[in-house]
Amino acid sequence: MEKHDLTNFDVIILGAGGAGLMAAGVAGQRGKKVLVIDHAQEAGKKILISGGGRCNFTNINATTRFAQERYLSANPHFAKSALGRYTPRDFIALVDKYGISYHEKTLGQLFCDDSASQIVDMLLDECEFAENCGGSVDFSFGRPVHGVSHEDGQYHVSFGEHSANAPALIIATGGPSIPKMGASGFAYDVARQFGLKIIEPRPALVPFTLGGEDVLFRELSGISADVEAICGKTKFREAALLTHKGLSGPAILQISSYWKHGDVVHINFWPDHPKGHLKAAKREVPQSHIKKILSEDLSDRLAETLAKEIGEWRNLADLTDKFLEEIEAKIRAWPFTPNGTEGFAKAEVTIGGISTDELSQKTMEAKKMPGLYCIGEAVDVTGWLGGYNFQWAWASGVAAGQAV
Ligand code: FDA
Repeated sequence: MEKHDLTNFDVIILGAGGAGLMAAGVAGQRGKKVLVIDHAQEAGKKILISGGGRCNFTNINATTRFAQERYLSANPHFAKSALGRYTPRDFIALVDKYGISYHEKTLGQLFCDDSASQIVDMLLDECEFAENCGGSVDFSFGRPVHGVSHEDGQYHVSFGEHSANAPALIIATGGPSIPKMGASGFAYDVARQFGLKIIEPRPALVPFTLGGEDVLFRELSGISADVEAICGKTKFREAALLTHKGLSGPAILQISSYWKHGDVVHINFWPDHPKGHLKAAKREVPQSHIKKILSEDLSDRLAETLAKEIGEWRNLADLTDKFLEEIEAKIRAWPFTPNGTEGFAKAEVTIGGISTDELSQKTMEAKKMPGLYCIGEAVDVTGWLGGYNFQWAWASGVAAGQAV
């Protein structure tokens, strides 16, 4: 809209986030005339704030091999096709082409050395490059979308004072996580309008809130510990952070994607010690006591709180091995019953969304609505923390961009 005053396009993309920008660049470089519409004033706002401003743009393990385990979806196989055809290596090659330096932080997570804005600039440059390939990518920012309709094989989109038509429409408006940043459930409204099923969306990668008996841990706000967070059969070994509302930190955000109301989350405060740690301590330092042993690994205040809850201050030498085993079992599986999460306001992503049953896993096109494509977070595919979600945004964006 800003560059070409056209109303007819080959493709209209709703949403200029990671998925929409990727799809736009790919389609534009295939010679397509693309219009990207976003109600925000600029592109890629979530990219800009991601990874603490350095964008954890992919994870080297975001491959088909781990897809089933590391992407949550009603159909755990759905994401494999797109992830297999556009891999972390492909995105790294693009980042290399633009000379953006990066580093691996931990667990295969790749971050920009300098700034997340380099990733947005790179994606915008890729869109611009469409002009050299006989295509074009135009943007409309800051105008709300009023309506979408489909008639005579064309999708009509009205936005601001304008309207545009195209035979293909890509929904890339993400999920409702962090509405303060312009996130909305708009993708679901459009999908429903065209008869596509929605898997109930809920916040994921989100801090827990604690109440009831767990409330005393809120007084330890700011303290972190290396733990294993466990929910059912799923475990994450990373840091947890106590907050004034409850629990956060990578281990907690990860496990939150597997948690449902009423579930107990167990925290193992001794993930690195072999079983029998307390019995071994009794032999080595018989005059020591539980709090002292706990504070070897945990902050003093956390050790104090756990010891108070355990309520045992006698020397280890005075305790039976069986009793020490019972105490150790509690330290290795401390039960928390979150009373909720901090919700979409604080969730990094949304679980659920447009049902994968409705889409081709190869092209992301809706089976019952030719020309309608759904990509990125709007779809019921949610990755682990650590670059998995952007890799899904890139891969699903490429799949649709190649197909339109
Ligand atoms: P995204 O939400 O990015 O883009 C949707 C676009 O649609 C937005 O530009 C929005 O303005 C627009 N839009 C919404 N409603 C609209 C409407 N009604 N009309 C018009 N436009 C509309 N992932 C990761 O892999 N590594 C990381 O480091 C992080 N870090 C991170 C930090 C924080 C704070 C958050 C909130 C999230 C992350 N994520 C992440 C997750 C990641 O940001 C997310 O998975 C992707 O941005 C999803 O990309 P999409 O393009 O699908 O949606």
